[in-house]
Amino acid sequence: MAKLTVQFVCTECGSAASRWLGRCPGCNAFGTLVEELAGAEGGGGARPSAPVPLGEIETAESERIPTGVAELDRVLGGGLVPASLVLVGGEPGVGKSTLLLSALAAMSTSRRVLLVTGEESTAQVGLRAARLGGAEKVEILAETELATVCATLEAERPEVCVVDSVQTLYASELGSAPGSVAQVREAAGRLLRVAKQAGVATILVGHVTKDGAVAGPRVLEHLVDCVLQFEGDRYREHRVLRATKNRFGSTNELGVFEMTGDGLVGVPDPSELFGTTHPGEVGAAVACTLEGTRPILLEVQALVAPTDLAMPRRVGTGVDPKRLAMIVAVLGRHAGLGLGGADVFVNVAGGVRIDEPGADLAVALAIASAARGVPVAEGLAAFGEIGLTGRLRPASQAERRLGECAKLRIAVVLAPEGTGGPGGLRVEPVETIRAAIAAALEGRAPRVAEPAQAAARSAA
Ligand SMILES: Nc1ncnc2c1ncn2[C@@H]1O[C@H](COP(=O)(O)OP(=O)(O)OP(=O)(O)O)[C@@H](O)[C@H]1O
Ligand SMILES: [Mg+2]
Repeated sequence: MAKLTVQFVCTECGSAASRWLGRCPGCNAFGTLVEELAGAEGGGGARPSAPVPLGEIETAESERIPTGVAELDRVLGGGLVPASLVLVGGEPGVGKSTLLLSALAAMSTSRRVLLVTGEESTAQVGLRAARLGGAEKVEILAETELATVCATLEAERPEVCVVDSVQTLYASELGSAPGSVAQVREAAGRLLRVAKQAGVATILVGHVTKDGAVAGPRVLEHLVDCVLQFEGDRYREHRVLRATKNRFGSTNELGVFEMTGDGLVGVPDPSELFGTTHPGEVGAAVACTLEGTRPILLEVQALVAPTDLAMPRRVGTGVDPKRLAMIVAVLGRHAGLGLGGADVFVNVAGGVRIDEPGADLAVALAIASAARGVPVAEGLAAFGEIGLTGRLRPASQAERRLGECAKLRIAVVLAPEGTGGPGGLRVEPVETIRAAIAAALEGRAPRVAEPAQAAARSAA
């Protein structure tokens, strides 16, 4: 086997140096050299290997492993794929260890599962296991030495393994400290090889940095098959799990959990929780957004407050700040709602983040309601993308959104022209943002559901 040597490689241009340098001699970039193991793959004496035609490969559509946590399965695209590598990232204390221990506990009833813990002692994990219950058969290994973890996995070959966390693993050949970019990359690379060769579905827990990237600037995301982000406010009980990359399923699926004393409980119907406004409240509107394939109703709240600042603030929690600035500008230009002398704050219920433009209309309605001091009509939900001309554009998968509205006793849905509606639900097509505000605030929409609709809904 080739001798292992350490070299420093530039992440920008790839040139190598034998010692660390602040500035890359190849491309003159600063601070881009990272430590790497050279010669680990026996380069010199390698033999050629025979390629195989794709058609001859056995595609026994390998069955997915249900994790026993329905919301996690949904985000993974129907369960864990055997021998895949999944990265779960999240802020400290958001509940990563809790979620994965409950999944391991559920899976341990029918298969062999292993928990590698580098962060907590076995006694600490035992405490959590006692709180969650049902984890008696989960095997646990307290180890941080990467070579030992890999050797154990190859020898024991459990079906599922959780490594909590990848930042604590340590390859002694590398000089840098655990958690450094070089160590984390080496750990993920070797675990990937073991996962594929030994057929272990491996879940890595990764810490996120201050700007939200897992383990430094996205070093692991390319390596792994699936990246899950566990989000939500540590101080509130709701947590949202979403896939930002998935080689075996759709991304942007959303799982919602509630943190309780007995662990994380899935919330199968988040619209019930997040999609209601208080009747008559100024500055609140219900958005019907789509997360992956899952429609979800979310309350959007806005506050418009006069300001003396030369540059008024536009602060959005859960909405994209650029999108918010655009909506405020369109409201000013095309709906006669000048907000130049006011701060605008927008907040989305439940710590959920809205990524899709279909929620534009509800954000605009909440702001308009706050600015005018008039509540949005009761029982009204809205979706649609706002264009720069003030015209509304149809949003994708309108039927799914309308279906969710019908399920949640919404009386009227404001939607762009050309959106067809299912029976039992009144869809009010609007062409422009100005027309939408008029319909929502000035009462063209009924304040309460009409009797005919109420009857249709109770029949549905
Ligand atoms: N007895 C309890 N009752 C209710 N919630 C609890 C209880 N014990 C812990 N929690 C919740 O669990 C959270 C910690 O979960 P967990 O240890 O799984 O987080 P983590 O993401 O693994 O954190 P870290 O990054 O530090 O490892 C706490 O923030 C708290 O909200
Ligand atoms: Mg943890």
